[in-house]
Parts: sequence; C-alpha cells; structure tokens
Amino acid sequence: MRIAILSSGGDCAGMNPAIKQFVDYCLAQNIEPYFIYDGLEGLIDGTIRRAGYPDVARIMHLGGTIIRSSRSPRFYEYTHRKQAYENLQQHGIDRVVILGGDGSFRALEEFYQEFGVRFVGIPATIDNDIFGTEYCLGVDTSLNIIRHATDAIRDNASSIKRASVIETMGRKCGYLALVSAIVSGAEVCVIPEAECDFESLALKLRSELKQGRTYIICVVAEGTKMTQKTVEWLEQEIGMETRATVLGYVQRGGNPTVFDRLMAAKFVEYAVDHLADETKEGGSAVLYQGSRCKLVPIEVVNSGSYQLDEKLLDMAKDMMR
Ligand code: F6P
Repeated sequence: MRIAILSSGGDCAGMNPAIKQFVDYCLAQNIEPYFIYDGLEGLIDGTIRRAGYPDVARIMHLGGTIIRSSRSPRFYEYTHRKQAYENLQQHGIDRVVILGGDGSFRALEEFYQEFGVRFVGIPATIDNDIFGTEYCLGVDTSLNIIRHATDAIRDNASSIKRASVIETMGRKCGYLALVSAIVSGAEVCVIPEAECDFESLALKLRSELKQGRTYIICVVAEGTKMTQKTVEWLEQEIGMETRATVLGYVQRGGNPTVFDRLMAAKFVEYAVDHLADETKEGGSAVLYQGSRCKLVPIEVVNSGSYQLDEKLLDMAKDMMR
C-alpha cells in the first residue's frame, strides 16, 4: 500500500513533526510513504517521491514544512486536477494525507468526487478556524511566540509609559488574539467576532491612568483591520503615546512546542490507520474534540463554520467594554 502526504496553504509549526511521524509510522506498518512536494502545485506538476527514514532525520524541531507548501489557483481548474490524478496513478498512489486548512480540504473533497482518491485532512493552520475541531496544528507554537513578544513589549511599554497595540494574524478568526489577550492580561482585545465598546473602555482606562496605571496593552486581530484606528483612539481619546507592532510571519514559524509535536503524532496515526483500512471510503478529517481525536466525513467539516468558544469570549469581556 502507498500513501502520500502533502502540505497545503499557509505553513505552520507542527507540519515537520507530522511529516516525520508519517514516514516512521507508515514504515512500521509496511506502508510505502510518499512525499508530494510544493502542495497542490506539486501534485499538478508531479513532484512526487518515495520517502524514507533519512528524509525525516533531524526535522522534528524545525518550523515550516520540509516538503514545502503552496496556495494553488491552478487546482480550481479541472484539467489541472486531471493531471494531478494521472501523476498519482503513475506512482500507484490512491490515498493521501493533507496538512492544511479548510480551503485545502474543500479542494480535496472535489478531487475525491471526481477521481475517487481517498484522503484524510489534518487541521494545520495557526488561524484555528476549522469547523468541528478544537485544535489545529501550529496554534500552540504560534500562541507561545505571541506571548513571548507581548511580554517583551509590555517591558517596554511599562518602562516608558506607553500604550502598545499588538496585531496578531488569524485571517477572519480572532482566536489567536483572544487567547493571547487573556493569557497576557491585556487591557483591550479587538476581534472580528465581538463588538468593542470603545467609549466605555476609554472611561475605564482614563480613570485607571489617574490612579497610576503606567501602560496599556491592546491585542488586535488582523481580521478587524482596526490596528491603526486603535492607535489613533489611544492617542486621541486616552492621551497616551502609542506604538504598534504587527507581529506578522514570526507567528507562523519557529521551533514546534511539545504540544504541537504530540498533536502531530496523534493526528497522523489516526489519519494513516483510517486510510489503511480498506473498509473505509471517502474523504475525512481528523478532528480534536474533548481531548480526543476523531475521524469526521469531510462533507461535515466543509459544511460548517468555526465559532469561538463562548467561555473564552466571556473571559475577555472586560477587555471589550
Ligand atoms: O492562514 C494563515 C495565515 O498566516 C493567516 O493568518 C494570514 O492572514 C495569511 O495566512 C497570510 O497569508 P500569506 O501566507 O498568503 O501571506
């Protein structure tokens, strides 16, 4: 039996541990592991190669993905998908593990319907925005990078009486900003999923400043597009010198945390076991629910949209009003 793995969309920490586990686990089960390089672009171009132990030596601690990733507009076109299928056929591969986000899962669902290539999606995106799963690979590493940066920025802000606005990634999802604001003890959290009452926040912060507050930390999710407006609000309404830090791509890289390495191993074993089972069919994703991994049909995953946990939102309510 041959199973291939590819990474698709935005890279994240945790992909390399997953790739290592994939090769090690397949070989232990007498399955031949294959790499598809450069994501869906590589599937179209046929950059497919048999993988072995030497390929995954010394990669556990590396961020990113050694098989590289891509966003592939070409995969939307049938002729390219047909080419991709023929490339897999040439190597005798009819099942695939995909590390990526919901866009990649949708692309593979269509591919399965047309050509019958079974696949399992492993949620891998720092945005943590895939329906049905409480966890996506890369999120813990990203949160730790944001925490480290926020702690350092607080040192600066508190030493020199400043406000700091920290912009996190996440596309339309505010998960990274929300959790980072909670664990950093921020004063303000601006995310797409909740209204921020800037007037009442201003009243509260002005009164705290009178009582001796020396700094303000605001965490803003990129999806709100409110970073610059928050800076202006702090300077004009609160009267505090303000600096903004857009954390950007540092959130996507770096040494994967213990949690990401462990989750990578769990996700991969579920994915490979499922694909190796001849009684199963279709496309699926491995989701993490209630501290357990679970295989869910891809139609279910692709039909919903991710919602932030109400309890987390409740914990941050004082940072929003
Ligand atoms: O989806 C992951 C992510 O890092 C988002 O948080 C961000 O908005 C986007 O990718 C950036 O995309 P690109 O890698 O194409 O610049």
